[in-house]
Amino acid sequence: MSLKSAIQIERLPKHIAVIMDGNGRWAAKRSQERNLGHEQGAVAVRQTVEAAAEIGIEFLTLYAFSTENWNRPKDEVDALMELLVRSIHNETPTLMNNNIRLRAIGDLNSLDTKTREILDEAMEKTSKNSRMTLVLALSYSSRWEITEAVKTIAKAVQQNQISINEISSKTVSEAMNTNFMPSPDLLIRTSGEYRISNFLLWQLAYTELYFTDVLWPDFNKEEFYKALIDYQKRERRFGKTSQQLEKILN
Ligand code: IPE
Ligand code: IPE
Ligand code: MG
Repeated sequence: MSLKSAIQIERLPKHIAVIMDGNGRWAAKRSQERNLGHEQGAVAVRQTVEAAAEIGIEFLTLYAFSTENWNRPKDEVDALMELLVRSIHNETPTLMNNNIRLRAIGDLNSLDTKTREILDEAMEKTSKNSRMTLVLALSYSSRWEITEAVKTIAKAVQQNQISINEISSKTVSEAMNTNFMPSPDLLIRTSGEYRISNFLLWQLAYTELYFTDVLWPDFNKEEFYKALIDYQKRERRFGKTSQQLEKILN
């Protein structure tokens, strides 16, 4: 029986972020090239997007390529970019059929022209879709994003659009690349690594973290449901006491 039936639909996270890790190790275990792991990773992406949309998640953010990943061997970077272009091209009709909007965060100007064009086209085409927003973090790193936000705010101060005393946590959030989405409620990282790897540092302040040893290419709907069930066992206190939360519920 599927674990899906154990999930309380009224207590779903609104936004799930995923660090999809372990493609290379998945391939190495099979004595295959790392790129085969990335290809299989794309299958896991499909499964996860489907599961999230079906159950009613509003935002799903996938860490697909970090700023630091540009430092990998050129062959691997090229293969990842080619896979990205191919996947976006092949999956756009599915996104349309399922009413899913595609967005991207990261330094998109660093992508090559062809990749950028196909991404822009898919985002434009799906922009009116409203069931779920799928966000790809591409050439993304949190320190890059925060640095850019600091520059945006500094410019606004310099041009007298805002005074220094008016700068609040909201000002910072609004200057971020992620200003169109709520903070993640749940972060999933696969492959048994216990780190954040420069992903959404500001936005993860109160996110529930879920780590699994499963390598990303082996991740599937049932693994996704496991993460949701684990999340639903947590008590999110946001600095308050358990007693205070009970009062709100009763
Ligand atoms: C995640 O898998 C995919 C990307 C970072 C693009 P990895 O390629 O990092 O796989 P491992 O961590 O080497 O196993
Ligand atoms: C994080 O995975 C980035 C993505 C999943 C895109 P990495 O494999 O690059 O992370 P580190 O280097 O092990 O921290
Ligand atoms: Mg990795």
